[in-house]
Amino acid sequence: MSNEPNIQWPLDLVVAQTTPLTAEVRQLILRAADGGALPAFSAGAHLAVCVQPHGTGSAAQRAYSLLNSTAQSGHYEIAVKHEAHGAGGSRFMHALAPGDRLRAGMPKNDFALHAAPHHAVLIAGGIGITPILSMARWLDRAGQPFQLHYAARTPRAMPYRDEAAALGSARATLYFDHGEPSRGMPLEQILGAPAAGRHVYVCGPRPLIDAVVSAARAYHWPAENVHLELFGNTVPQAGDQPCRVVLARSGITLEVPAAQSILDAMIGAGLDPMFDCRRGECGVCAQRVLRGEPDHRDYALSTGQHEVERLMCVCVSRARGELVLDA
Ligand code: FES
Repeated sequence: MSNEPNIQWPLDLVVAQTTPLTAEVRQLILRAADGGALPAFSAGAHLAVCVQPHGTGSAAQRAYSLLNSTAQSGHYEIAVKHEAHGAGGSRFMHALAPGDRLRAGMPKNDFALHAAPHHAVLIAGGIGITPILSMARWLDRAGQPFQLHYAARTPRAMPYRDEAAALGSARATLYFDHGEPSRGMPLEQILGAPAAGRHVYVCGPRPLIDAVVSAARAYHWPAENVHLELFGNTVPQAGDQPCRVVLARSGITLEVPAAQSILDAMIGAGLDPMFDCRRGECGVCAQRVLRGEPDHRDYALSTGQHEVERLMCVCVSRARGELVLDA
């Protein structure tokens, strides 16, 4: 990889240390290659890094939450789960050794803590602990109240288990769920009725996020008090079928394979749609539906936006049958 200044990957980092946290998760400590200070970030922020999966011959991007204190400018701490059936990015990251170089973008935060002092309910499943622990560490230092609910398959598979347990039983509850975080947590009890100054933050696999969002809706939590970050793939899901999407203004018909998002099919057809998170969390990619029935899978749009404004997030949502978009 070139070490010349790079607009897309402005940070030139060197791996200072790697430590296995579990059989699947490895912690990496990264420093600036020139030994200087690294750009600041806030709790919940992530770092996009440039990975080169073996055998693909091309670079790709992966994002990892930053865990260390936001006041420590000398290094970044990330933790990477090895995805046995992934596209090779996590394998690339796990193969890094001290002294290896890594290009990265500037830290970015799509999952920030609410600015005003508040009580935080922190919920994490598996490797979703990384931004949540960053928040817990920040809240702990700031003396702000929080409760952490953290699920993993088994104690041995739980990264940062000792640190979470050391918060004490009044502030941290650990769950061992044998693979189904949403089943292990009493979410109705954890969330309870909404109250002014109470915010919930959840990060983990989709079933956990879905369960937290639906429990929060059932208790009428205001949407602005529910914050989420999804880990893992958003598409495809089991049973997904290819679909046909007609872009009315562009005069293009897309045949979208089951394993591809409508957004990617639009980009592949030479269009330049707006998007950001690609996880159904920001709403930037929303397109208006002129005809057809979308299968909504986003967390960004309200029911009114789905049903009255007829918007859909094309990065994650799919179509039941043929769809016509105002695009
Ligand atoms: S790009 Fe963020 S919701 Fe689609």
